[in-house]
This record gives sequence, structure tokens and C-alpha cells, in this order.
Amino acid sequence: MGKLKVAVGKLNFEFPGIVASGIMDETGDSMVRMFKSGAGAVVTKSIGSKPRPGHSNPTFTEVECGYVNAMGLPNPGIDMFEKEIKTASSEGPVIGSIFGGDEKEFAYLASRMEEFGAVAVELNLSCPHAAGYGAEIGSDPEMIVSVVSEVKSSVDIPVWAKLTPNTSSIQALGRAAEKGGADAVVAINTLKAMVICPELRKPVLSNKFGGLSGPGIKPVGVRAVYDLYSSLNIPVIGVGGITCWRDAAEYIMAGASAYQMGSAIGITGPEVFNEINEGLVSFMKEHGYETVKEMVGVAHE
Ligand code: DHB
Repeated sequence: MGKLKVAVGKLNFEFPGIVASGIMDETGDSMVRMFKSGAGAVVTKSIGSKPRPGHSNPTFTEVECGYVNAMGLPNPGIDMFEKEIKTASSEGPVIGSIFGGDEKEFAYLASRMEEFGAVAVELNLSCPHAAGYGAEIGSDPEMIVSVVSEVKSSVDIPVWAKLTPNTSSIQALGRAAEKGGADAVVAINTLKAMVICPELRKPVLSNKFGGLSGPGIKPVGVRAVYDLYSSLNIPVIGVGGITCWRDAAEYIMAGASAYQMGSAIGITGPEVFNEINEGLVSFMKEHGYETVKEMVGVAHE
């Protein structure tokens, strides 16, 4: 399994698969379980300054090609999260996902995450449906530059910017993150979506809109990673619809230095990380790759 070691900038991970923000990452114990299942790192659920209950139910629904959810950024607030990061960090690298309403709030949350032991922060600039947060901030390149640069001047750990696909140019958003000093970009967050129940004549989710994740969004994610890889000089981390080793290989060949999975944990269970690790090792052996790095971006050649 030594073949699977990857580097994202100055961070080194034992395995290329990382738990995406939002699944099995709200408690220290659930994050530990993910490390034991072959995840190379875990990104926490997005954490804000204060406790937030999130939206009322229904917050989650299944569709043919994945899930649509609008949890409403529920979280216990940054003060309560210290012990969860400490527990999880004893088993592996934890990346703290944060959401804020402005530059100062992002910078404050990032410095708390650093103090708790997170090895990097991931800025949620892309939740598709939270008023005043996420994509409302992250759809504006100037705002991305401003948030990323403020966070960069507040912490020493790497800063990752998670981008929205709900835009006409994810490359413009990626360039803004790079200009602000981001150490990596993460693409993609969920696609803004809606599900309607014909009998009830109304949207299924209490929030009406939600984010689509799962296998259906994989080609969108692969395209976004391909575009970002060709226009940026910082690492790209791929996420969106990966459920098997072939999907992971697609993202890596599009240009991802590492990849994240969320919905696959719901579909297959935490073991999906180990399964993909094994699949990738066999593929690499068969095709003569010694390291994951040798595969990064080969689809551009
Ligand atoms: C939520 C946040 C996200 O970033 C996302 O993609 C989907 C849902 C949420 O908590 O509602």
C-alpha cells in the first residue's frame, strides 16, 4: 500500500482517498472509524462560529443517481469542536472545514481550527443553498480572493478552497483562490437541485432546494478538475460521485492529486476506502505506475 502515498503541497497522506465534508465527520469517533477503513485524511463537517440546528426535516432524499440534501449547515459551533478534532487527530490528519459570513469570521474559525490541531482548513465557499454563506460568497471571484487572503494571513496551516460547480466558469473561481494564496482547490461541491413530490404538489426538502451528490455528478466533477488542472499551478483535489477505483483513477488522470468521497460512504459504507485502495494498487501494478503522482493529469498528454 506504500504505492498509494500522496502529497498535497506540503501535506503527506498515507492514502489518496479523503472523507469529504459532511459524512461521518461530526464526531471524533466517527472520524477515527474512517481512518481505520483506509481514508488518508478526513475533512470535518463544516463548522461555524455558533451552534446551528440546521433546517427542519426532510433534509435529505435519494434520487436515481445519488442524493439531494439541504441540512442547513447544522453544527455544534467551533468551541464544542475542539475535543472532536483532538480525538480524530490521534489517528490521522484532520482538515477543518469552516463556513463564515465574511472574511473575519472565516479567519477566526481557521485560527481556532489550527489551534485545535487541524493540519489544514477547507473553506466552504460552495454550499449551494445557505443564505449568506457558501456559494453566495464563493460565486464572486473578488470575494474569494478577499476571504482566502484574510485566512492566509491568519494561519500557518495550508488553506484549501472548496469551489462551487454552480457557475459559468469554475476556472475563474479557481484562479481567484490561487490569487488569494490558496494552497489547493477542492472541486466540486454539490450541484444545486430540487425534487418535487407529485402527490404533495411541493418540493420534498423543507428548504425546497438542496445539493445533488453521488454518481450522477461524477462527469461534472471530472470536467471541473480537468479544467482547473490546466489553468492553475496549485494542487487540485477531486470530489463528486466517486464510488469505485475506476472513478478515482478518472479524477486522478484529470489532474487530482487526491480525491474525496462522501455519498459512497452512504452507498457502500466506510469500507469503500479500503476497496478503492486495493483496486488502485492492482491497476497501478498492471499498468506500470509506481506512484499515484505518475498518474496525476495523464489524461492531458
Ligand atoms: C450542506 C452543505 C454543503 O456544502 C453541501 O454541499 C450540501 C449541504 C448543508 O449542510 O446543508
